[in-house]
Amino acid sequence: MPESFKVTPWEVTGTIDYAKLEREFGIKPLKPLLPRIPDATHFHRRDIIFGHRDFERILEAIAHKKPYAMLTGLMPSGKFHLGHATVAKQFLYYQDHGAQIAICVADLEAHATRGLSLAECRTMAVEEYLTNYIALGLKPKGVDFYFQSARSADPVRSNAYYRLIGELARRPTMNEMTAVYGELTPGKIMSALTQAADILHLQLPEFGGPKPIVVPVGADQDPHLRLTRDLAARMSQYQFVPPSATFNKFMPGLKGGKMSSSDPLSYIALTDSPEQAADKIRKHAFSGGKGNLADHRKFGGDPEVDVAFQMLRFLLEPDDKKLAKIEADYRSGKLLTGDLKSYCIDKLSAFLKDVQRKRPAARKQVEKFLKA
Ligand code: TRP
Repeated sequence: MPESFKVTPWEVTGTIDYAKLEREFGIKPLKPLLPRIPDATHFHRRDIIFGHRDFERILEAIAHKKPYAMLTGLMPSGKFHLGHATVAKQFLYYQDHGAQIAICVADLEAHATRGLSLAECRTMAVEEYLTNYIALGLKPKGVDFYFQSARSADPVRSNAYYRLIGELARRPTMNEMTAVYGELTPGKIMSALTQAADILHLQLPEFGGPKPIVVPVGADQDPHLRLTRDLAARMSQYQFVPPSATFNKFMPGLKGGKMSSSDPLSYIALTDSPEQAADKIRKHAFSGGKGNLADHRKFGGDPEVDVAFQMLRFLLEPDDKKLAKIEADYRSGKLLTGDLKSYCIDKLSAFLKDVQRKRPAARKQVEKFLKA
């Protein structure tokens, strides 16, 4: 029996059946588009970005060098970890492929649904998220980074964003909202409508008018995209281009499940020292290996559930050939759990050292960037 799972924008539990998400929500598989994706990254090739909505429109924009934007949002809810890094790396792809980049700090959402103060959200967004984005390679020039609580210093633009939230609020009925989200609170309703405005407002006249937008998100965010696309279609006065989206799988946490900033034993933070990280992998990373050496040699390990292997797949081993060999050797029992973990630890240390070396300069750039 498959374990039961739950995926809503505010709760992810159990082992996620991605095929079921595709069937139930109408997300399309990304694979058939693979030959059309220029410079496809390992995220595309390895089924980490497993699905999409209307991604063809973005491929057209890239191919014909037409203007388009990438917008995504983050809830600043704790430490920036390897799971966040897998999403952040996708920004770099779009930045390299002609997108206007907009990143929204969902501080109103975190305030409403997680009870964090807006001041805490701001500190966390700057120290953890923005600094790490830049340390991971995002070039701050031209990036539109904003807080839901403070859209823009330009009052005309700011008003347009908040006005859109109000206009969106008039459209759905309570029954429609409940059908998409299940149980709701005023804070969740506000968050959903604000997120719809996040996704659509770059197409308002004050922000340059209609254009393709791609929203890279985790699979849990699809309800927001369904609602937003639905509302966009009903607001004919704006001629919104239906927003596109890509959906990525979640990097597994150390014990399995989702890597989550609300559970310190589930994640490796980008600020963990290489020694701390190594210790976490050795002691806590769930292994797909067999309990004893003889069994492992005989039956082999299971890379699907092995956290060290999955970290290599999601982030740490860029070379497809090397990854395929590790996978085959682990399955056959030739590669032992301890050796797989050691390989993962080597790669992880190099990754952490590199980001940590770049953080001080990145932090300074953030300062300048937020002032601008
Ligand atoms: N709800 C998102 C989260 O939980 C954050 C978010 C806010 C967002 N606005 C957005 C994501 C717009 C994508 C697009 O992380």
